[in-house]
Amino acid sequence: MHYQEIHFATIDSTNKYLKENYASLDDLVIVSSDYQSKGKGRNDRIWKSDNGDNLLFSLLIKERDLVNLGGYLSLPAAYTVAKYLEEELNIKDVYIKWPNDIYIKDKKVCGILLEGQLPNYLIIGIGINLNQKDFIGDYHVSPTSLFLETGKKIEINDFKKGLFSSLISSIINVDELKEDFLSYYQSHDYLKDKEVSFYIDNEYKNGKVVGIDDKFALIIEKDGKRSALQSGEITIKKEN
Ligand code: BTN
Repeated sequence: MHYQEIHFATIDSTNKYLKENYASLDDLVIVSSDYQSKGKGRNDRIWKSDNGDNLLFSLLIKERDLVNLGGYLSLPAAYTVAKYLEEELNIKDVYIKWPNDIYIKDKKVCGILLEGQLPNYLIIGIGINLNQKDFIGDYHVSPTSLFLETGKKIEINDFKKGLFSSLISSIINVDELKEDFLSYYQSHDYLKDKEVSFYIDNEYKNGKVVGIDDKFALIIEKDGKRSALQSGEITIKKEN
C-alpha cells in the first residue's frame, strides 16, 4: 500500500505537525516520532510516552471522499489496530472501548485522536504503548503496553511497517469493509453490558450499554428508554 513516512526523533506533536503542514503534504503521509514533548490526547489531555519505547504517529487524509467521512474514520483505525494486535501478535483479550480506545483486559494500550478541518483535511493520530515498562504519574485510565502484557519486546520497525499497510488498506477500502468493522467492533466491545455514565443534551445520565448500532453510535438503555450517542466521553460506574 502506498504511503509516505516522515520520521522525527523528537517533535512536539505529530498531529500538530500535520495541522501546520497539511497544505504542502500529500494525501496518506504518515508522520512518526520517537518522542513527543507535547503529545495530545482527547479532551485536552496530554499523551505521555517514554522516549523510543512506543509507536507515535499521525496519518494525513486529504482525499476528498475520505475526508468527508470525518469522525467515522476513527473506527477503521481502531479496528485495524485491535485486529493487528490480536491476529498478528496473538494477543488475547483485546477490546475496543467506544469510540476508539484499544484495551487489553481492563487497561488502555492505544489511544486515537482525530483532528482536522473538513472538507480540507483529516488527521488520525495514534499512540500505541509497545515497550514501555513503567507508567509513572497520573493517567486518566490505567495504561499498559504490549511488553507488560506479553513479556516480549516489540521490534518497533517491523510492527509499524505491518500496521501502516493494514491501516492504509482499511482506510482506502472503508466502504467495502464497513460490515467487517461493525461485526468486529460488536464482538470486541469493551463497554457492552457495563453500567456507564455519559453526557448528553447538557446533562449527565447513566444507563447500561446495549451495544453499537450500524451507524456506530453507542446505544445506552435506562428504564427501557434508549439513547444513541454519536460522540462523547463514557465513564464506567464503579460497583459499590
Ligand atoms: C487519547 O487521548 O486516547 C488519544 C491519544 C492520541 C495520541 C497520539 S500519539 C500520536 C499523535 N500525536 C499526538 O499529539 N497525539 C496522537
